[in-house]
This record gives sequence, C-alpha cells and structure tokens, in this order.
Amino acid sequence: MSNIGFGFIEIGTVTPKPQYGNPKPRLKRLVSHKSLLNSLGFNNDGVKKIQNRLKKFDHNCTLGINIGPNKSTPVDKFYEDYLICMRSLAEFADYITINISSPNTPELRDMHKKANIEKIIKVVLEERDSTNNKPKILIKLSPDENNQTYLELLELVNSSNIDGVIISNTSNNQKLKKELNVDNLPGGISGLAIKNKSNELLKFIKKNLKEEKILVAVGGVFDVDSYNEKIDMGADLVQMYTGLVFEGPNQVRRIVKNGR
Ligand SMILES: Cc1cc2nc3c(=O)[nH]c(=O)nc-3n(C[C@H](O)[C@H](O)[C@H](O)COP(=O)(O)O)c2cc1C
Repeated sequence: MSNIGFGFIEIGTVTPKPQYGNPKPRLKRLVSHKSLLNSLGFNNDGVKKIQNRLKKFDHNCTLGINIGPNKSTPVDKFYEDYLICMRSLAEFADYITINISSPNTPELRDMHKKANIEKIIKVVLEERDSTNNKPKILIKLSPDENNQTYLELLELVNSSNIDGVIISNTSNNQKLKKELNVDNLPGGISGLAIKNKSNELLKFIKKNLKEEKILVAVGGVFDVDSYNEKIDMGADLVQMYTGLVFEGPNQVRRIVKNGR
C-alpha cells in the first residue's frame, strides 16, 4: 500500500477474537453507480494473530489500526473489546480508530449516543496514556445519524483528549439503497453514491469540531477533484477505498502528485 503512494495506511477493523464475518455473498459491485455494497462484518484473524503479524512488520509509513467489538459480544461489554484491542495493538499504531459506525455489527451504531460511548472513550484514553508511543485516538462516524446525535458526540470529543474523527463510514440509508435497487440486501454503500452525503457531514463536523482536532475524510474519493473537495472542506487527511477498487492502484500517485 505504501509502495503505490499512500501516505498512511489504516488496517482493520480488528476484533478481539477471530471471526468469519457474514455469510457470502457479502460484497456487490454497483458498477454504473461507481459504488459498492458490503456486509463483510469484520472478517478478521483476531488481535493475537494480527499482533504477531505486526511484530514482524517493519513499516516505514504511518499506520492506523481500526478496532471494534466481536459480533458475539453483548452491547454492554463492547467497551471491553475496545480495551482488549488497545492492549494488544496500541503499541504498533500511530493512531487508533474507534470504529462505532459499521452497519454490519448489530447495535454498533448505538455507540454514537453520548451515554453509550462515554465509557468506551474513558477506557481507550486511559489505556493510550499508559503506552509508550501514545497513539492518537480517532473516532469513525456513520453518515446516517441525526444532527443532535453528532453534536452531543462532538461535545465529548471537543472536551476530551480524543484527537479527532473520521468522516465517514458506509451508509445504510434505506432510501439510498432503494435508489440503487439493493434495499433487499444487507450492508452499507460506499463510493460515488455516498460522496455528497459524506461531504455534507464533513462540512457540518468541520464547523462544530475544535480547530486543533484532526479531521480525516473518506467517502467517494476517486480522483484529484474529489480529493481536493475534501481538502477544501477542511480535511487534514484523506482516505480512499472504493475508488481504489474502480480506478486501480495508479490513481493513488496521480492524486498525491496533482492534488492540493
Ligand atoms: C469492502 C469494504 C470493507 C470495509 N470494511 C471496513 C471496516 O472493516 N472498518 C471500517 O471502519 N470501515 C470499513 N469500510 C468503510 C471504508 O473504510 C470507508 O469508510 C467507506 O467505504 C467510504 O469510503 P469509500 O467511498 O472511499 O469506499 C469498508 C468498506 C468497504 C467497501
């Protein structure tokens, strides 16, 4: 990934225990919309195996590690899963992403509510402060919540040592899925179909987030223009996933070379 030009890389979502994820098929290309529908459900090898892999990985680029709870974990114990991931992985990370926004883990998006995320923030920040490398801590948000929920969450971010936010994860808005003829399927939409929605949220968050916090933008970046749009809206860093699938690896250097 760093060889094709990315300035930083985020791995995950990693969960404490290995999990297969949702049954296949779980990834659909919506080619005419330059979008994807995915319901992978955090398929990953679990913290232990990934920790061993990271020990052998001599990385020369900025590394983010995205963490989340297992599907089998009851919702009132989600915070323990974030803590387990922190204990095993924080030492390898330049930043940690607290993922509360996958639509494919039941009840995960309820963690946008202030009352639910307070405990997660507390244990993650305490654990971060006990590490040597002190990775930055970012929270990754869904594009489908209401403004009041975002504002309450941002109040917590602004008044704590959380370093920033990532805007946004995929959308499972039913109206959007209906327009794309996939409302009968599970999963979240990424790519061009969420670009505007993701950018609108980016603008809103920029307005309400303290200036010193880090704003990472993702959603519908395919080329120099869509990258520049996010930078112009105040993004400090930009990520790309679906764009890589549709445009191929050469697009990364083009964007880095010609973007702002
Ligand atoms: C196949 C696929 C798997 C994804 N898995 C994760 C994940 O495990 N954790 C996460 O936070 N976001 C995940 N995402 C969301 C992306 O990181 C990104 O937030 C979203 O796709 C919007 O960006 P894009 O339009 O550039 O794809 C996934 C997206 C896709 C398409």
